[in-house]
Amino acid sequence: MRAKIIATGSYVPERVLTNFDLERMVDTSDEWIRERSGIRERRIANEKEAASDLAYEAAKSAFKKADFKTKDIDLIIVATVTGDMPFPATACHLQHKLGLKKAAAFDVNAACSGFLYGLSIADGFIRSGIYRRILLVGTEVLSRITDWEDRTTCVLFGDGAGAAIIEATSEDRGIISTHLRSDGSMWELLNMPGGGSRHPATKDSVKKKMHYVKMKGNETFKVAVRTLENLVVESLNANKLKASQLSLLIPHQANLRIIQATAERLEIPMEKIFVNIDKYGNTSAASIPIALDEAVRQGRIRDGDYVLLEAFGGGLTWASALIKW
Ligand code: UT7
Repeated sequence: MRAKIIATGSYVPERVLTNFDLERMVDTSDEWIRERSGIRERRIANEKEAASDLAYEAAKSAFKKADFKTKDIDLIIVATVTGDMPFPATACHLQHKLGLKKAAAFDVNAACSGFLYGLSIADGFIRSGIYRRILLVGTEVLSRITDWEDRTTCVLFGDGAGAAIIEATSEDRGIISTHLRSDGSMWELLNMPGGGSRHPATKDSVKKKMHYVKMKGNETFKVAVRTLENLVVESLNANKLKASQLSLLIPHQANLRIIQATAERLEIPMEKIFVNIDKYGNTSAASIPIALDEAVRQGRIRDGDYVLLEAFGGGLTWASALIKW
């Protein structure tokens, strides 16, 4: 039994925040942001929208494309670092909104690699015969944990959600292999220190801005390029495939220069790499499923294509998934 993605969906909030808007907020420029990251604009959730609301819209758009009753979903996995609340899981809020009474629900926290960690879990459940139909959503409202006075981070992030419905199949296609990695010794490169049991919310934690994302961007950049190249090679070798046999590589959209450097090292032409960072910035766990949904809608993935998904983020974590579409 294999696990196959039978439908995708995505949702981004209406409000667009451009680089020019950011020029009026912090000491930055459109030119700097575009040249260093490839981002032109990003979406920002309205004050009533939480992670499960974005997830709900993305899931609904995926369900519209799947030809079975939503009640048949066995499991809901949500990948996020900006859930509605510390607990219960955002997946439970989503289950309630969708009215999927039969489904189990839990969240995965692997930061930007969260969707691929979730995909690997879904693949395992389906291959082992435990579940047949799984809804996986990556959703983030990063604007709520962004320090809008810190120009080194606030220009990078955006909000959004992407969903995939994964089903058991006996066909020779679907998720071929997933590869998960982490290195907790580098946790300080990318984190949000406040709000957990180490530094619970206090007046002092708020004053010290501990409830915002902290990133050592330049160091993170270097680790990302190195690890992603190795991971793609490992994923291809494990399946005796060459990079030239990939129809499309869908990378996590963190920085256009990371994407270009990885492509160059692997000798994969940019035409075979999906890029939408210019429109949405870095949406963490939502980045790959939004890109996957856009790639499907643009007709860039056809039946039988080999598609590789890869991500890198806080933890540090990194992950890939090879799919035969
Ligand atoms: O999604 C999870 C993983 N995340 C990533 O993989 C992100 C990895 N990192 C990056 O994408 C890049 O490191 C950044 C886009 C964050 C930064 O690019 P960089 O080329 O690494 O720049 P830098 O941090 O080395 O900073 C270069 C200069 C500094 O000034 P000095 O020290 O050279 O005078 C910064 O203070 O750019 C300055 N700077 C800015 N200038 C204008 C930093 N942020 C800004 C800004 N506007 N927004």
